[in-house]
Amino acid sequence: MCFAVMYIYITRDASIEYSQETSQRLNRKLADRVAHETEPFKDGVPNEEELEHFFHNVMVINPSVEVYLLDTEGKILSYFAPFGEVKLEQVGLDPIHTFIEDTAAFIKGEDPRNPGVYKVFSASQVYADDIHMGYMYVILASQELATASESLASGFGWSLALKSIFVTLVLTFLVGLLIIWLLTKNLNKIMTTVSEFREGKLDARIKTKTRGEFSDLANNFNNMADTIVENIDELKSVDRLRKELITNVSHDLRTPLTAIHGYAETLLLMEGQLDEKQKKEYTEVILSSTKRVIKLVDDLFEISKLESDHIQTNRETFSISQMLSDIIMKYELLAKSKSITLTIENVEKDVFIYADIALIDRVFQNLLDNALKHTPHGESISVVIDENKSNGMVSIKIQDTGVGIPKDELPFIFDRFKKIKGNTKEGSGLGLAIVKKILELHEVEINVQSELDKGTAFSFDLPMAK
Ligand SMILES: Nc1ncnc2c1ncn2[C@@H]1O[C@H](COP(=O)(O)OP(=O)(O)OP(=O)(O)O)[C@@H](O)[C@H]1O
Ligand SMILES: [Mg+2]
Repeated sequence: MCFAVMYIYITRDASIEYSQETSQRLNRKLADRVAHETEPFKDGVPNEEELEHFFHNVMVINPSVEVYLLDTEGKILSYFAPFGEVKLEQVGLDPIHTFIEDTAAFIKGEDPRNPGVYKVFSASQVYADDIHMGYMYVILASQELATASESLASGFGWSLALKSIFVTLVLTFLVGLLIIWLLTKNLNKIMTTVSEFREGKLDARIKTKTRGEFSDLANNFNNMADTIVENIDELKSVDRLRKELITNVSHDLRTPLTAIHGYAETLLLMEGQLDEKQKKEYTEVILSSTKRVIKLVDDLFEISKLESDHIQTNRETFSISQMLSDIIMKYELLAKSKSITLTIENVEKDVFIYADIALIDRVFQNLLDNALKHTPHGESISVVIDENKSNGMVSIKIQDTGVGIPKDELPFIFDRFKKIKGNTKEGSGLGLAIVKKILELHEVEINVQSELDKGTAFSFDLPMAK
């Protein structure tokens, strides 16, 4: 509405200005011609008789003009204006000078009949015997003409205004309808999908093609839905793991606890009937079962500690050669009892690494425990240390010539509670999970190579001390 009204006023003003400028251009030479067609001065004074006659003729031909003769100061000497009185005695000369000097100017001058009102005009200098006597000043739109044209323009303006207002209102209404339709269409789509998702259809997503606020909203909803689904999956997998853990732990605890309970009961019930050898045997079973329970509880405690988010390694510089020599010494007796050759290569000189001593010690213990468990009599186990100065790492390999691991089981041996089918050796399957976690905390990976009946090799790198 406002725009329509503004538009009308601007158009109306512009069209009036345009018609006035056109009129001034067309009649530019009018005053000049009037000045030359007559002899305005005779003997230095205005030639009243001739002027009146001439002015009369001009106005008969063109009633929209008023003609004035001015002296050099702008004072009105003579005029012929049929409508109303002339109120000014003198008109300003500035617009007249500008008009004469600048032939392209659109300029208005004072209207002698309406003080303070400016109108388009034509003007020319008047000479008598080469003496500048004054000016011929022609007002181009007379009073009646101005009133007529203004009322025409305003009538035209109002009808244009009404039409513009009508067209603008119709257009605004249509655009409004279109916007509401677009908004509700997209909103409905979003609302439907949100309801579906809320009712449990977790794969419901909003399809968007366009760009803009709605597609941002839709994308945000889709991302949020993805995150919720991921979280649900994670919670489900955590819950599954928790159930697995409880099952495994109860199973692994039951066996040694049943043994402890059974043998302790037998010892009590058959007191006096058992010889010393039997008593020792039963007590040893109780002791080894207790050890198993303690080991299981320790391992569980260790893995839950390693898997908690706030575990931190306590790294320092130490000699890996020294650590391995000490560990091997501890295992030597056991190896000898199984006639297994246990060797360590490249320990002649100290190799220093930067790692957590206690955790790395656990890695070697677990890997050597496994190697000794799965390597038959007469076979061998070796540990190799290799310094690789180019990448600042020390690579370590623990290999045996034991039973090996089937290829299809290899990807799972680092899982918690994983035991290879057919493996009857003691153990709950937590050792390698602990090893993997410790090495992850040192930002390194562990690799395994194995061939059935040929042997197994575990290898990993550790950072060299600087
Ligand atoms: N050097 C090896 N040779 C052959 N099989 C191995 C070797 N090391 C590990 N395995 C297999 O991988 C499985 C997982 O090993 P892991 O150390 O995690 O468990 P575990 O030794 O059975 O029990 P735990 O270490 O908790 O006492 C073992 O049960 C065994 O079957
Ligand atoms: Mg083990």
